[in-house]
Amino acid sequence: MSKLFTPLHLKNQILQNRIVVSPMCQYSGKDGYATDWHLVHLGQFAIGKAGAVIQEATAVSPDGRITYADLGIWEDGQIEKYKQITSFIKSQGSIPGIQLAHAGRKASSNKPWINRNQFAPEEENGWQTVAPSALAFHTKDVPPFALTIPQIKEYVHYFKTAAQRAVTAGYEIIELHAAHGYLIHQFLSPLINKREDAYGGSFENRIRFLLEIIDAVQPELSTQSLWVRVSATDWAENGWNIDETVRLCAILKQKGIEVIDVSTGGGVREQSIPAEPGYQVPFADRIKNETGIITGAVGLITNGNQAETILENNQADFVSIARAFLRNPHFVYQAAEDLDETIDWADQYERGKEKQ
Ligand code: FNR
Repeated sequence: MSKLFTPLHLKNQILQNRIVVSPMCQYSGKDGYATDWHLVHLGQFAIGKAGAVIQEATAVSPDGRITYADLGIWEDGQIEKYKQITSFIKSQGSIPGIQLAHAGRKASSNKPWINRNQFAPEEENGWQTVAPSALAFHTKDVPPFALTIPQIKEYVHYFKTAAQRAVTAGYEIIELHAAHGYLIHQFLSPLINKREDAYGGSFENRIRFLLEIIDAVQPELSTQSLWVRVSATDWAENGWNIDETVRLCAILKQKGIEVIDVSTGGGVREQSIPAEPGYQVPFADRIKNETGIITGAVGLITNGNQAETILENNQADFVSIARAFLRNPHFVYQAAEDLDETIDWADQYERGKEKQ
């Protein structure tokens, strides 16, 4: 049996294989509410036997949305549709997860297929953004408000209440989005966080916001597995880097985080990313092997053999896949074929195995 198709046992969940659908914003929500688009989009991956399906960055407060069409989980009315999504994913033997996020200074933007530009606060679909420091992502953006300490506590609380709702909605994996230049990463990165109080400067201060969120979220969980997605490097001089990430992950493991989902970049515009197949895998490798935490590798992983090699080489415990799932929602079926594995397909799809 390949490693890729060996179930992954977490404390309270079993992933039927080690292929996870990476969170992918659909920019198709209405006032933060999910629609049938999300049910069908996420549901198809469960039909396709993904080990887990992680729902897109879902904002913990309205100003935390990247765009006005992002999903949100800041009010109870939003829970109902999520229940439908989690229930369907579970009915197919997959594990539903949600990524809790706040976009910080990268919020208030347009849908990427329009132009990605940030709206000014006074424009329709725009609002005032917040961040650790009043530094804009792009020189043409209106600078964010630097959060005061009482406001930081409020944002921590938003993650707590979002986690409560996520549990009610039936998600079994709660992933905190600490990557890609969004609010938590903005606190971590010395290029973005220029605070001189208890939340800026030293490593201990820059990680404080994330640790406080974890402390706030954990009591809300029972059997749910708590994951953190990190950007392991800013890919920029004097930025957040892999050494600090390894140090952070060791602390996260101590605190009971079960999985680190290892991405990179997104914090600053001057990043220089050498994107090539599996380019982020070495970061997952270091985190896994230096801290002993369960890691997922992501980024330009596009077939079963490549994924299997990563696991065989002990560089990660599972793979997260994004764009290859958009090209083929039944990527898992294809990966099994790549590895000559026989897996169960959804009963309704079994006849698809017949080639003639
Ligand atoms: C993404 N990505 C992403 N990442 C994340 O942490 N939260 C998110 O909501 C999104 N949204 C998103 C939307 C779309 C359409 C794409 C293509 C990507 C990043 C994604 O999860 C993944 O890390 C990267 O795409 C790299 O993996 P692949 O695509 O090379 O497998």
